[in-house]
Amino acid sequence: PPARSDRPAAHVPSMDAYRSMYRESVEDPDRFWGRIAAREFSWETPFILPGDAAASASAIASKPDAESHANGNATTAAAAAAAPAAADPTKVTSQQSNFDVRTGPVAIKWFESSRTNLAYNCLDRNVHERGLGDNVAFFWEGNNPEQASKLTYRQLLDRVSRFANVLKSFGVAKGDTVGVYMPMVVELPIAMLACARIGAIHSVMFGGFSHEAIAGRILDAKCKVIVTADGVFRGEKVIPLKHIMNKAIEHCAEQGFAVTATIVLAHLGNLPEEEKRSLDRDWLKLEAEASPDCPVEWLEAEHPLFMLYTSGSTGRPKGVVHTQAGYMVWAATTFKYVFDYHPGDVYWCTADCGWITGHSYVTYGPLLNGATSVLFEGIPTYPDAGRCWQVIDKYQVTQFYTAPTAIRALMKFGDEIVARSSRASLRILGTVGEPINPAAWLWYFNVVGEGRCPIVDTWWQTETGGFMITPFPAATPCKPGSATLPFFGVVPALIDSQGREVEGEGEGSLVIKQSWPGQMRTVFGDHKRFEETYFSQHKGYYFSGDGCRRDEDGYYWITGRIDDVLMVSGHRIGTAEVEGALVGHEGVVEAAVVGYPHDIKGEGIYAFVTLAEGFKFTPELVQHLKLDVRENIGAFASVDIFHEAPALPKTRSGKIMRRILRKIAAGETDIHSFGDTSTLADPNVVEMLISTRPGH
Ligand code: WT7
Repeated sequence: PPARSDRPAAHVPSMDAYRSMYRESVEDPDRFWGRIAAREFSWETPFILPGDAAASASAIASKPDAESHANGNATTAAAAAAAPAAADPTKVTSQQSNFDVRTGPVAIKWFESSRTNLAYNCLDRNVHERGLGDNVAFFWEGNNPEQASKLTYRQLLDRVSRFANVLKSFGVAKGDTVGVYMPMVVELPIAMLACARIGAIHSVMFGGFSHEAIAGRILDAKCKVIVTADGVFRGEKVIPLKHIMNKAIEHCAEQGFAVTATIVLAHLGNLPEEEKRSLDRDWLKLEAEASPDCPVEWLEAEHPLFMLYTSGSTGRPKGVVHTQAGYMVWAATTFKYVFDYHPGDVYWCTADCGWITGHSYVTYGPLLNGATSVLFEGIPTYPDAGRCWQVIDKYQVTQFYTAPTAIRALMKFGDEIVARSSRASLRILGTVGEPINPAAWLWYFNVVGEGRCPIVDTWWQTETGGFMITPFPAATPCKPGSATLPFFGVVPALIDSQGREVEGEGEGSLVIKQSWPGQMRTVFGDHKRFEETYFSQHKGYYFSGDGCRRDEDGYYWITGRIDDVLMVSGHRIGTAEVEGALVGHEGVVEAAVVGYPHDIKGEGIYAFVTLAEGFKFTPELVQHLKLDVRENIGAFASVDIFHEAPALPKTRSGKIMRRILRKIAAGETDIHSFGDTSTLADPNVVEMLISTRPGH
């Protein structure tokens, strides 16, 4: 039975509706996105809708108050499009975007010449224009089930404005970068929104990163002001955030970079004396003393909003840059349609704001829609494996969004613990981060959703800003394990080994053919790297790094990364980063890291290491190597299996054959199934490694 009979019709009620909207979105993206952007957002300086602008614009209720502009309020595109000041023709979009390195630098631009502010659209618009001030923005649920609080849109606007003034008092201005290293408390989105409000660029760093990983990020973006907390409990484990941040800042100082202020939230409230520093300022005290009046900084559409570091096949993590307007439209629109959000819904995404999912689907997407969300500090298995189901009942959650690794972990605890909860409020279930295996999909659907909640398996990436391939819950028939069909404006293609586009059914490298508003704009400080990473493999296409199959119904099935990137518990880890950490040890001459199938994590980390003369493969050494990786990256990147490799399989030109290492790591023992090994410099290496595989 449906969860609620009084529910309004779905935003996309049928496949016919999907197909016709999709067709328009790819055939006339300017008109499609222009209409959505004008109707659902506020702009201080509008863009002009192309074509029949007047017709589509007249549908928008324009603000009668002609003074609103001068008062610093935003206006709808329609209202201002009629004004003479906007006569200078500006474009929505995509036609100015260049995807092809052969025709000039890659340049992605949307809603150019307009000005808006994302925080305004998340807060002021909801409070002052939509009457949602008293609606709950966040139900905060602590790690400890006895700790909880809530925050309305009005309260959130007040706190964000005050905190924006605090940032300003430390000299943070438009275009400056701010490092954010926080637990999942409401102050985390508050810090993000405060940056957005004044045009500062946030760089949120996942709470699980090590001090070295954090130092690298602070240095790359030159974050002078840092926002952090004393620490946090995750389950029974304490993460001493301030301690880690202190070490990171010392590391930066050694490199000649000085952080000028650390704004510290007293979350646990027991920061030891030895962790206090002269740069520290007390967040809550500053916030209480700050004025709640903070005018919005109106920003050009392409002004950077944030950077978020992500791993690739080579080198250090890249700072993926997203900008104000396009990202705003993308995060909001994907959220609205894919979670079919309606007033009264309570939405919960379990992701951490340290990852893109937390940016787009904990902070920006829900707030832009005026949604009510649960913000969860803890972990799904604390105090017990029924926590998620209890939280769903407690807040009457309607949409629940999590990762396959969490589903698999909870599945292990059996159905009985799920059955102790009602979950009657649930309507839609979502998953993201890696391909979901059909067994986990079916358990999610049948046991958690009791067969009545569609599952939206959303394929996307840090780089894409939001959903790219995904079902529409009331329209798309699901197939377990398939992310199904493209979102509006997304034109996927598969490229075969000859570099040609695959027609119809088939398999290949997943690419995207035309620009969409949420697309990343550059790699922070390195536009060349942006072009090389995403636009050089297949000219004229955005390269995703994923392999994919298209079936007879046109459904997409992601098969996993085809580059040297691992997806471990949905966390993206570059093999080169892990190898870098391992060879940093004096006892290691060479290391090769690959993924192998892991029941819970999806992919586990398997490291082949060649030791230097005089070093022995002892448990102590392995322990040291494990620690080195944790120190370099973070605990989530822990190596699962070490394999001593006196030699590695290489081609005659000295290139490591990872394809072979992946087979060995997967436990493959029949050398005939290894594919072509004729280019190996020394074929005996393979037999040797097969016979010495740990657990062999
Ligand atoms: C990579 C992107 C997008 C937020 C979380 C991860 C894999 C993501 C799916 C899915 C199969 C998926 C891909 C992608 N991935 N969602 N529904 N089905 N694979 O973001 O860290 O940027 O990683 O995650 O391999 O390339 P990310």
